[in-house]
Amino acid sequence: MFMSEARSPTGPILYRGKAKTIYGTDRPDQVLIFFRDDITAGNGRKRAEIPGKGMLNSRISALLFAELERAGVATHFLEEREPGVMLARAVRIVPLEVVVRNRAAGSLSQRLGLPEGEPLSRPVVEHYYKRDDLGDPLINRDHIRVLGIASDDVVDRMEAVARRVNEILSARFARAGLVLVDFKLEFGLAGGELVVADELSPDTMRVWDAESGRRLDKDRFRRGWGGVLEGYEEIWRRLQES
Ligand code: TMP
Repeated sequence: MFMSEARSPTGPILYRGKAKTIYGTDRPDQVLIFFRDDITAGNGRKRAEIPGKGMLNSRISALLFAELERAGVATHFLEEREPGVMLARAVRIVPLEVVVRNRAAGSLSQRLGLPEGEPLSRPVVEHYYKRDDLGDPLINRDHIRVLGIASDDVVDRMEAVARRVNEILSARFARAGLVLVDFKLEFGLAGGELVVADELSPDTMRVWDAESGRRLDKDRFRRGWGGVLEGYEEIWRRLQES
């Protein structure tokens, strides 16, 4: 258990999302990301506060971003300033969420009638339009073109990076005896460079125990099973120990 609460930065607030707040710094090319303890599901319809969650998400994100950087994937991550606060490159977020799936779960199981946990014969990449007011709908390449969200080249690069991130993170979780079932990535543009942005945490990925299939991620909150913080703590502990 963490004994202290994360302290929020003091700079100007640039953006307040559902679980994170972005603060400006004295450098225009850098921001501070404060991971709050707020947790939401169903596009904000279900919400709660889980003390300690923000700190765990920031620690897990920092560890995984560092892993990607070591493997040569460009990200917005610079350093963990203090538990709960990440220093990152300022980026313009591409309004497209890229989901990668290794096993059927969640909305894929519902949409295609596949049992949860069924391994997919190859990773599935999906695009969602980042629009809270529309409930982040699933969209295809033609939708992306018509909406002018990003060029074909940028979408191709995002997909290739997402598949590479899947390989790196799946291997990293396997080392900890965990299965990366699926995850969501966001990308940002920093001075023309495409970088993985946002967070890499149990809020945005499904992580199961490899042996028992026990779920340790935000599905514990979405589905009201309880033990949310305990699941996140277990992921953090097992990543650290492996
Ligand atoms: P889904 O099964 O609900 O579509 O979610 C797939 C994965 O992507 C799951 O790990 C949760 C994550 N995700 C987000 O973090 N934010 C989102 O807006 C969506 C659609 C998915």
